[in-house]
Amino acid sequence: MIVIGGTSSKKLAQDLAKELNSKYVQAQVSRFPDGECYVRIEEDALDDDVIVVQNTHPDTNLVEMLLIQDAALGLGARSITSVVPYFGYSRQDERFHKGEALSAKVMVDIMGLNSIRLASVDVHKPVVLEWFAGKTYNIFAAESIGEFFKDSGIDLVLAPDEGALDRAAAVAKAINAEFDNLEKTRLSGEVVRMAPKNVDAKDKSVLIVDDIISTGGTIEAAANQLKMLGAKSVIAVCTHGLFAKDALNKLRKCCNAVYSTNTIENEVSVISVAPQIAKLLRD
Ligand code: R5P
Repeated sequence: MIVIGGTSSKKLAQDLAKELNSKYVQAQVSRFPDGECYVRIEEDALDDDVIVVQNTHPDTNLVEMLLIQDAALGLGARSITSVVPYFGYSRQDERFHKGEALSAKVMVDIMGLNSIRLASVDVHKPVVLEWFAGKTYNIFAAESIGEFFKDSGIDLVLAPDEGALDRAAAVAKAINAEFDNLEKTRLSGEVVRMAPKNVDAKDKSVLIVDDIISTGGTIEAAANQLKMLGAKSVIAVCTHGLFAKDALNKLRKCCNAVYSTNTIENEVSVISVAPQIAKLLRD
């Protein structure tokens, strides 16, 4: 196998190639003055199965991914596997209101244009992968997160809402801690409310685990509630650190530390999911 990294996921692609003992190829990507994307792979041929690692978020990355795949096919790639570490648009898996786009399906359809396998990490609504005709893999980051926090003195792993409880439970199991969840209601894109809940957080080191941190509103509300409940320290971790606007600064004011996996590369993406992706793709 040959692993090609796009600009969104260069480090993760290099780690993945190492894990798979595969050749790593960096796609050359630049932008024309009008913003259009230019892609070239400087190899004579790619006569092998090719893994392309590239996010589809934000939208410009999607075009880059498609062009890299086409360039690889043009050099003779036998098959393409799309590794999309953060699957954007997966929250829009229904037409919630009449007239809306079914965005998640559009994304899945596009990824099926060139690739026969699709791998992603903690897909927000994993059911969307069923629209893909080929083989799909949804990698659970809880294992890597658990490994990272082993022996870090966490007493309680907390999910901000019930939907995130399985992830918190898996992390808690890996580090031998308790787990629980808060009860979140989203009031708008940026504002959430945590219902008062009697979580036993007094004098505990608490780790809040979520799949996505976007505006940071969810984690901020959870951290504030934990402080009211007497938590000794609060650390936040997520799989996909989008950190929209000044989310990271905002969270640094209410949490002792913030971490994410490297599905989106940023200044706190210190937890690598490459070993887990490699484990699945090897089979
Ligand atoms: C929502 O269902 C997700 O699991 C996250 O909790 C949400 O996307 C976080 O968004 P924000 O950081 O903007 O509160």
